[in-house]
Amino acid sequence: MHDRGPFPGGGKKLRRDVRVEDVYSLGKLLGTGGSSSVLLATDRSTGQEWACKIMALPRAGSKLRAERQGRDRVLREISAMLDLEHPCVIGLREYFVQDQKAYLVMELSRGGEMLDAVNDKGHYSEDEARTAFLRVLQGVQYLHSSGVVHRDLKLENLLLARPGDISSVKIADFGGAVKGSPAVLNDIQTMCGSPQYVAPEVLLGRHASSALGSQVSQPYGPGCDVWSCGVVLYMLLSGCPPFWHEDVEQLLAAVQRGKFDFEDPVWRGVSREAKDLISGLLQFDPGQRLSCDEALQHPWLQTSNGTQARGVAEGQLLLRGAATRTEGGERGANIQRALGVMLLAVLCLALYFVVV
Ligand SMILES: Nc1ncnc2c1ncn2[C@@H]1O[C@H](COP(=O)(O)OP(=O)(O)O)[C@@H](O)[C@H]1O
Ligand SMILES: [Mg+2]
Repeated sequence: MHDRGPFPGGGKKLRRDVRVEDVYSLGKLLGTGGSSSVLLATDRSTGQEWACKIMALPRAGSKLRAERQGRDRVLREISAMLDLEHPCVIGLREYFVQDQKAYLVMELSRGGEMLDAVNDKGHYSEDEARTAFLRVLQGVQYLHSSGVVHRDLKLENLLLARPGDISSVKIADFGGAVKGSPAVLNDIQTMCGSPQYVAPEVLLGRHASSALGSQVSQPYGPGCDVWSCGVVLYMLLSGCPPFWHEDVEQLLAAVQRGKFDFEDPVWRGVSREAKDLISGLLQFDPGQRLSCDEALQHPWLQTSNGTQARGVAEGQLLLRGAATRTEGGERGANIQRALGVMLLAVLCLALYFVVV
């Protein structure tokens, strides 16, 4: 039966006339997340391929708080994606609601997650990282100017159109996104994010026992995405996260201290400009942190000036990187393991923070 509850934008992009399986043939599993499976979806009439994200959508008006929250979360995700249209952001074509599930038909990314690309490669040259990171920042700038704060930017949510080609990156997964006026976006009061990428201000007032939907003690805003971008750039250039501990509580404590360094040998061949940009993005005080617009003006992103001259050294860096690649890979694998544990924790232990 089709759900008739109220939907974002008055039901814009909601297909009520047909069932999803009438329009699409749902095929192989492309990926899974904390609360979703994403399948390849082939349009039966045109043969065109899409990605279909399937999530539980509890009935409207449920008496159970968890069900109401679950429903709100899915509707917020749809609402955030509804009007987005940008080359660096995964677009929503249409969605279906049936049998207490939502089926979001999205642009297909064929290249997998950026996390896998980084783990395979170890780390990237400045030129490669610049091209990809520019796209990420342009996407985030577009989101912010469209009234959307993503809140869960991380390598797993950055998808590649082509395998191994990070210059084809697009931002995905609006499950934690907040949409609203500038006043709303600067007054976010719930915890959300992934431990390795979360900005310190999001954790303000956090206790070790913080659970799903915990309130933060100070509202925060779009700067949380900028911080996560800083983590992403750090990882692209080094293959390692700026904040890391196997124990999630200790990892979050490290984020709350906000101290990171460029001491790993991999950073020796990286330019001062790149490190300066990372430091501006990972500025502890969100008031002092670069905005997206400012980051886009940063000298490191302007031209490939200087990096061409470093081309030879870059090759040496990559060779040296091979020695650190294993470490980067292992740490990346650890990240995935830790995130897997965190995702389970949402369901079982409430250690992974998501919006209520
Ligand atoms: N548009 C897409 N094209 C290809 N794969 C996708 C697409 N969207 C998501 N995926 C895959 O599914 C995974 C889970 O999707 P995501 O939207 O991140 O869900 P969750 O909110 O559960 O984390 C992604 O990390 C990715 O591997
Ligand atoms: Mg995800």
